[in-house]
Amino acid sequence: MTASEPVPISRTGARVERLPLARYTTLGVGGEAEVWFVSTHEQLAEAMSQPYRILGGGSNLVIADEGLRERVIRLTGPLAEADLEPDPALSTPDQIITGWVGGGVPLPGLIRKLQKLGWSNLEGTVGIPAQVGGAVWMNAGTRYGEMFDGLHTLEIVTPEGTRQVTPDDLKWGYRDSGIPRNHIVSRVRLKLRPSTPDAVLDAMNFADNARKGQPKMKTPGCAFKNPGGVSAGKLIDEAGLKGLRAGNAMIAPEHANFIVNLGGATSADVHALLDAIRSRVPVPMELEYELWPEQHGLEQA
Ligand code: FAD
Ligand code: EPU
Repeated sequence: MTASEPVPISRTGARVERLPLARYTTLGVGGEAEVWFVSTHEQLAEAMSQPYRILGGGSNLVIADEGLRERVIRLTGPLAEADLEPDPALSTPDQIITGWVGGGVPLPGLIRKLQKLGWSNLEGTVGIPAQVGGAVWMNAGTRYGEMFDGLHTLEIVTPEGTRQVTPDDLKWGYRDSGIPRNHIVSRVRLKLRPSTPDAVLDAMNFADNARKGQPKMKTPGCAFKNPGGVSAGKLIDEAGLKGLRAGNAMIAPEHANFIVNLGGATSADVHALLDAIRSRVPVPMELEYELWPEQHGLEQA
């Protein structure tokens, strides 16, 4: 199959030799790679037998225009489906433990379903355009909640095999699950609290309100983690960098921790802005974006 043939994202077991990754990222930047759409644990094991990267919703990625040498794995089929039926053996009147939710499930749709069911714990993650696996891997969140608020069990796949862990087994924290890079979160069981659809909706709307000042253009979200709880956006703003352009990328005038693609931006444009921020903000800040491939001088967590 070639990149010119349209590939339905739900197609399971498909391997595409050269697929432009820009269309799989919210920034809209990135060259080609071989992509394996994987829907079973057997396919996953085969895909992991050679150097690989695992792609989620592409909402935290800056992929090089030159593309990638490694194959890229994307979870589809049953690994992108959610069994929200409460497990009768594990659930109690105060706590719902769901069946398995695939790492490839889009998070926004899952959050809407949980709201309709009136199940609480994950509504603080509203508005994060991730897949469940990617959001769990970096413990995505907002000031009003994070992924680890609603996790019971995680299934993690590595080239050595599959294991199940609980949050207590991991050293997780702000924007960090403690799971090593390239260990794949294939499925999770959620831990939720019975509430009402109205109460969950109110909490979602409250959390979503904090996004009013965020830009609406193509972006991978916040570039840097907040150092010591201080807004990195505020620090970048105070350094006078709002609106700074490199090629067709810009530090958003609305919120300085967002880099936006004005149309036709390159990965080099984005790296130039990251370098400018690093050199002009006096406080050390850890990168939140994932750079593919990793760049010397811009160390990632
Ligand atoms: P990707 O971007 O595809 O990948 C990111 C990393 O996760 C990569 O290292 C990848 O290998 C790894 N990964 C992906 N899937 C898996 C898997 N199944 N198993 C193991 N590792 C995996 N983030 C926040 O935390 N809070 C916010 O409020 C927020 N707001 C955002 C708003 C906008 C408009 C945008 C574009 C982004 C925002 N983000 C936010 C950033 C982004 O959504 C999160 O970082 C999210 O967790 C990325 O998940 P993803 O599935 O898109 O992962
Ligand atoms: N601020 C400025 N200038 C800016 C940006 C922010 O002065 O350019 C000020 C704001 O006025 C406000 C304070 O900084 O007083 C905090 O700003 P904001 O409410 O936007 O929160 P943040 O700390 O900058 C964090 C997360 C976001 C998340 C929001 C809402 C990080 C790195 N960022 O932003 O997460 O959506 O809170 O909960 O933790 C992401 O991680 O990708 C992300 C978007």
